[in-house]
Amino acid sequence: PAAKTSQYEMFTLTTWLLKEEMKGNIDGELATVISSVSLACKQIASLVNRAGISNLTGVAGNQNVQGEDQKKLDVVSNEVFKNCLASCGRTGVIASEEEDQPVAVEETYSGNYIVVFDPLDGSSNIDAGISVGSIFGIYEPSEECPIDAMDDPQKMMEQCVMNVCQPGSRLKCAGYCLYSCSTVMVLTIGNGVFGFTLDPLVGEFVLTHPNVQIPEVGKIYSFNEGNYGLWDDNVKAYMDSLKDPSKWGGKPYSARYIGSLVGDFHRTLLYGGIYGYPGDAKNKNGKLRLLYECAPMSFIAEQAGGAGSTGTERVLDVDPEKVHQRVPLFIGSKKEVEYLESFTKKH
Ligand code: AHG
Ligand code: MN
Ligand code: MN
Ligand code: MN
Repeated sequence: PAAKTSQYEMFTLTTWLLKEEMKGNIDGELATVISSVSLACKQIASLVNRAGISNLTGVAGNQNVQGEDQKKLDVVSNEVFKNCLASCGRTGVIASEEEDQPVAVEETYSGNYIVVFDPLDGSSNIDAGISVGSIFGIYEPSEECPIDAMDDPQKMMEQCVMNVCQPGSRLKCAGYCLYSCSTVMVLTIGNGVFGFTLDPLVGEFVLTHPNVQIPEVGKIYSFNEGNYGLWDDNVKAYMDSLKDPSKWGGKPYSARYIGSLVGDFHRTLLYGGIYGYPGDAKNKNGKLRLLYECAPMSFIAEQAGGAGSTGTERVLDVDPEKVHQRVPLFIGSKKEVEYLESFTKKH
């Protein structure tokens, strides 16, 4: 950003959005949607930080479409996202990990943006006070399939599904918010990756990480090795090679895994390395969802000079067929993902 004109000047997310709009990189409607997402993240940050006090830990008592026991904060965070996105008047359809089907937003005034999100990622960590996050992606409405079947609910639903099931290569914006020792929003609109840290005293996200570049190599791997026995042979061979003391000049890799994709990915983005959630004998497509976990994170990784792969193809090239479709994910430093692919692309 330009040099500060006064010691009291704060380069906030609001300022950054305004400048991107003035440069013609985004339109006013998209800026409004991103602002509404940042408001949702501020609200969730305060809910998460006080979960133990306001009786918001523990399970809600029902299962979501993923077959997971919803945590109370999964449900609350989902409501917060839906309220913020609906009331900004620029969102046409939303898809959430916590919604069986996409939801057409009634209060759309203009813009009609499509927003996909994981309102609370890593929610199994909430009761232990370990870092969690939110992940989101924003698309323009699909030209091939306008949403116009107002009087035919079945057709309308099909049109909404078509509008959220777009390949990650069409994302206009992707980001995540990390709720940890600090609350950090990281996003891209296709011209680099920018990180904003919440100043809780002012309630504003302040630019703290302009133009993030992921290190080309990194000696940290982030996999749930508890699943090693279920992985196929080439992923096992890859993992064995990372831990082979005779390689890497005697300096083996370090393992770091907290069970929150947002936390594990944010560390990978800043320090380098690789995060992986392979397919396994139980779930050949792994656990992570393409639409609101793998694609937004892969857009960010690529914009920071890294890569996001399913092991056999670029995540952003995958054309989603179902809203909650899963894909294997290997994401991080370019050289590290390429090394992984030298095992998984073997015939
Ligand atoms: P969510 O809490 O949104 O369902 O996502 C959890 C995901 C991801 O955040 C994390 O990396 C992964 O699940 C952890 O899975 P395991 O517990 O199987 O390692
Ligand atoms: Mn979940
Ligand atoms: Mn998640
Ligand atoms: Mn989630």
